[in-house]
Amino acid sequence: MSTNHPTIIQGGMGIAVSNWRLASAVSGLGQLGVVSGTALDQVFARRLQDGDPGGHMRRGVDQFPFPEMAKRIWDTWFIPGGKADTQPYKRPTPATKDGPRDVRELCIVANFVEVFLAREGHDNPVGINYLEKIQLPLLPSMYGAMLAGVAYVLIGAGIPLKIPGVLDALALHEPAAYPLPVTGSQEGDDTMMTFVPAEYMEGAHPPLRRPDFLAIIASNTLALTMVKRANGKVNGFIVEGPTAGGHNAPPRGKPVFNDDGEPVYGERDVVDLVKLRELDVPFWLAGGYGRPDKVREALDNGAAGVQVGTAFAFCNESGLTREYKNEVLKVVAAGSARVVTDPVASPTNFPFKVVRLQGSVTEPDVYAGRPRICDLGYLREAYRTAVGAIGYRCAAEPVTVYKSKGGKTENTVGRKCLCNALMANIGLPQLRNKYVEKGLITSGDDLSELAPYLPAEGWIYSASDVIDKLMSELSDLGEALTSMCETPVLA
Ligand SMILES: Cc1cc2nc3c(=O)[nH]c(=O)nc-3n(C[C@H](O)[C@H](O)[C@H](O)COP(=O)(O)O)c2cc1C
Repeated sequence: MSTNHPTIIQGGMGIAVSNWRLASAVSGLGQLGVVSGTALDQVFARRLQDGDPGGHMRRGVDQFPFPEMAKRIWDTWFIPGGKADTQPYKRPTPATKDGPRDVRELCIVANFVEVFLAREGHDNPVGINYLEKIQLPLLPSMYGAMLAGVAYVLIGAGIPLKIPGVLDALALHEPAAYPLPVTGSQEGDDTMMTFVPAEYMEGAHPPLRRPDFLAIIASNTLALTMVKRANGKVNGFIVEGPTAGGHNAPPRGKPVFNDDGEPVYGERDVVDLVKLRELDVPFWLAGGYGRPDKVREALDNGAAGVQVGTAFAFCNESGLTREYKNEVLKVVAAGSARVVTDPVASPTNFPFKVVRLQGSVTEPDVYAGRPRICDLGYLREAYRTAVGAIGYRCAAEPVTVYKSKGGKTENTVGRKCLCNALMANIGLPQLRNKYVEKGLITSGDDLSELAPYLPAEGWIYSASDVIDKLMSELSDLGEALTSMCETPVLA
């Protein structure tokens, strides 16, 4: 088993909670910082419409290897001095199976810039995280991240069997294909997405680093399937349990719910680490491992380390607004933090963890006041239309629209527009006449474990506090900390 891997992986947290600042801080300290690749086109377009405060996006765009594309993107989205506060954001069109080209270009540039900025100022590896369920922007996004020298690609929320082969192809600037699941598709339908780098490149470029691929799994079966059936090398696993923040894998077997309507997980949902070790692939444990004793326990169980999300999500460098951090940390400090696993909030059908905050859209009566609308579309499902074309629908869109696309009414109950809510979490909310989109904070079940990070007054702590704490019980601390720096980083 390789020793050149990080002990701590700061988990990918969308949308832009694990942004370039957080990943840069973590990687700069010799552990693995991971930027979220989810909806980066949207995030980037809004940062430019806000006038690019600090000039960071410009700095990244200046290093982008295809200058004409960079100029097109900049000219389309940048507003000098920022848009007026009363103006809504302009939106990129949601991606579809084959494009459109301008959105693919935006994905390439946005993913490049996020990774470039996270890598700036140190020589350590940086990773990027995607959700397999969000297939439409995947190919151009990964290409953009690879142009910036991303060292790890981490993908969960789905079965990413075809990712390794895509990474192999993109590293050589060769065409890549990825299957789009289309509900109701029939034999002979073309459901393959393709991306041809040569159609976007300006001039010849040397091969890119092929990033290590870490598949996020929640069962031994999936781990084995990935090893046996993936179309290329799987370099490691993140074993994520049901207490982790964000989306969770649904429980195995017949669904059972507790009195609060949360899915109940059982023995079958526990990954057998002895069996996993037999696959001889490095693995990291995630979900409730944000404590020094849990890091020790993971290493003792043969893991290469741990992936931690929640402890990093509320630190200074994360993308959540200060207001949301304070709101959450206030209840943590008061000992009244409450996280629920909502089985229906996410249009993906995966359970989604939500922090309950009074007056927030986690409360049903507050959410009911939000006009139902789907205009970002990352979580849309592709379906076969009556004429055999590909249509797109989201269970959180207006019910009549969803039904007119063949969707079932029962699928719409309790669904929330995560796309707009998660953009609001990071201070980029859409404005609709007088309605401003509100946030919906996700976190792991172990939110209350954040209390030891909090100083007696105020709720301010940094990524380095988290890392120091996590590493504090390792007797082989020196070895673990230097292990990452031995990894050669290729551009
Ligand atoms: C705010 C937040 C957002 C997250 N978003 C994602 C995501 O976009 N993709 C992903 O694979 N995991 C996501 N996760 C899961 C983390 O990457 C990590 O695996 C998990 O948080 C580890 O468990 P912990 O929260 O108990 O530390 C998210 C977690 C949090 C707290």
